[in-house]
Amino acid sequence: MTQMRAVLYDRTGPAPEVLTVAEVDRPEPGPGEVRVRVALSGINPVDVKVRGGAIPRRVDGPLVPHDDGVGVIDAVGAGVDEGRVGQRVWLWLAAVGGRWGTAAEWVVVPAAQAVPLPDTASDELGACLGVPALTAHQCVLGDGPVSGRTVLVQGGAGAVGHFAVQLARWSGARVLATVGSAANAVLARQAGAHAVVDHRDTDATAQLQAIAPVVDRIVEVALVDNFARDLALSRPGTTIVTYASDGRDLQLPLRACMNACVTLRFMLLYAIPEQARLDAVRDVSAALADRALAPLPVRHYSLDDAAAAHEDVEAGRGGKVVLDLRG
Ligand SMILES: NC(=O)c1ccc[n+]([C@@H]2O[C@H](COP(=O)([O-])OP(=O)(O)OC[C@H]3O[C@@H](n4cnc5c(N)ncnc54)[C@H](OP(=O)(O)O)[C@@H]3O)[C@@H](O)[C@H]2O)c1
Repeated sequence: MTQMRAVLYDRTGPAPEVLTVAEVDRPEPGPGEVRVRVALSGINPVDVKVRGGAIPRRVDGPLVPHDDGVGVIDAVGAGVDEGRVGQRVWLWLAAVGGRWGTAAEWVVVPAAQAVPLPDTASDELGACLGVPALTAHQCVLGDGPVSGRTVLVQGGAGAVGHFAVQLARWSGARVLATVGSAANAVLARQAGAHAVVDHRDTDATAQLQAIAPVVDRIVEVALVDNFARDLALSRPGTTIVTYASDGRDLQLPLRACMNACVTLRFMLLYAIPEQARLDAVRDVSAALADRALAPLPVRHYSLDDAAAAHEDVEAGRGGKVVLDLRG
């Protein structure tokens, strides 16, 4: 059987201690699946949290990490159009439900999880779409269209926040973003935010209210820190969608929530119905076709440097980190 190089771990722990690179059998596509020669493997916070053990997952043998990636289909299983061989694709949730993620020379996924990537989109964009862009879609558009509405993206230069800004803008919304540095303000503006406020400013709420007294949707990365600000910007009909947890919990101010008649929604990409994920893939593909999406700055690592790449993600330096398997 043909061999391939892959990043593996068979126990959770610090990246340098548990990540190895080894030769393993190249997977073959089964019925309904495609095999992709991986070009870039995109890394998300969830990948390092699962490898580190912060998010529990059963590790009952060697696992290849990473949900996201980009590459070219080189084989298809029974029932898949053979015309897809040679197609350049972006991948989503590759590591879910099996042991083979994208941190390998080849990966096999269900055909629907390998989505055609337009020639106008770079490998870097394709490799970083999966988890962030699908999550951003469900946060911005999961409650319906936002055309003509005002959307606040808290953390507008994060991986999810970046695509939330771009998808909200593409959808015709007026977009406000918060960031925590001047460099991130530049990124949020480049992504299309109409206005950007530093969330560290003591008068950040007043600055936002001066731009938009109330907003319709809030995409929230730090609910515990920002809930008072979110409520101050809410009116009946405002939805706050939160997609991140840092382990702290929130005590809800019930009277203030009632006064605002606010809707609080929680979103986990792995838990939403499959149809919602497919709707997100459809809309992200439409936005790609409109050239409405661009990547954050990307830092490249080799397969052999996977542990350093994980530590880079853990350092929270912003931008995106990928393993580069090209040439
Ligand atoms: N629910 C899901 O399905 C799902 C999907 C994807 C990600 N996630 C989770 O969401 C989190 C973010 O993921 P990511 O990939 O976008 O990470 P990321 O690229 O590291 O972005 C995190 C962002 O949070 C911002 N931030 C931190 N504190 C903030 C605050 N108080 N107010 C406003 N912004 C703040 C940071 O902005 P500044 O540096 O500018 O302050 C940073 O840009 C992670 O915990 C991840 O595990 C969940």
